[in-house]
Amino acid sequence: MKLNTTATSFFLFSLFITMPSHALDYDPDIGEEINEVCAGCHGEYGQGGKEGEYPRLAGMPAEFIAQQLVLFRNRKRPNMPMLQYIDERQMPDEDIHNVSLFIASIKLNTRLPPVDETAADFDAYARLLESKKLMQIPRAPGDIPKGKKMYKKECASCHGKDGYGLHKKAVPLLAGQYTSYLWNQVTKLRNRVRIHDIEEPDEELLDDFTDAELTDIFAWLSTADD
Ligand code: HEC
Ligand code: HEC
Repeated sequence: MKLNTTATSFFLFSLFITMPSHALDYDPDIGEEINEVCAGCHGEYGQGGKEGEYPRLAGMPAEFIAQQLVLFRNRKRPNMPMLQYIDERQMPDEDIHNVSLFIASIKLNTRLPPVDETAADFDAYARLLESKKLMQIPRAPGDIPKGKKMYKKECASCHGKDGYGLHKKAVPLLAGQYTSYLWNQVTKLRNRVRIHDIEEPDEELLDDFTDAELTDIFAWLSTADD
């Protein structure tokens, strides 16, 4: 697991002045316990649900998860369904830290490795558990080569060359995310309900892209986890 708790704390501290500046310890057991609350909507493995009404969280940079939880808690990003879980009392900084690192560490496979089901050591239960952690985004319509080129030029510097997000800068993964969720967030970003780039809060960078261009980008992203 690649983590940089010092950077996390510093980033959150510098943005919201609510996080302590010292690095918090990580307790995976507490993280797992808190995730049981999240699982009701985001799934046991953070795989999301309801075709993207609940986003995938597994494998997101921990810094991004923590930052969004602070935004929800401070009512800076509206999220009615989550409000009751996220007030100061129920979600102190330590809990945010633990649950974010725990969810970030969950790895979802995109396919099951081949096995011989007739072999003597075949473990059907282990196989079933593995199959529950599968997530494969269905191919979205659009021009994939064009989308790939545009993604690499316009989005990769922040969202990572393969679309899996960036740590430290708290940038979410886009590859492996439900396409419908991405479109919902485009609307929220364009309407300034969310701030895309904290360094340029007044300039929404998706305003520079047409829906057709974003369709191509999302088409490529939907194949990035193939
Ligand atoms: C009652 C349902 C519900 C529960 C429980 C819930 N969430 Fe959410 N969560 C949502 C919804 C709905 C969204 C998407 C909001 C939107 O469309 O902007 C969301 C969005 C998020 C996001 C933003 C993801 C992104 O890519 O933008 C994070 C991070 C998150 N939730 C973390 C958590 C964590 C951690 C927990 C447990 C402590 C949790 N949620 C519990 C419903 C829930
Ligand atoms: C300057 C860095 C930067 C660039 C360039 C950038 N993004 Fe982002 N993007 C971010 C950050 C940071 C966030 C998280 C914002 C927040 O804190 O809510 C984000 C969030 C998003 C989200 C919401 C995803 C989620 O899970 O919440 C979408 C969709 C998105 N970006 C699409 C794009 C696309 C498409 C491009 C290229 C055309 C792009 N972004 C270019 C930094 C960037």
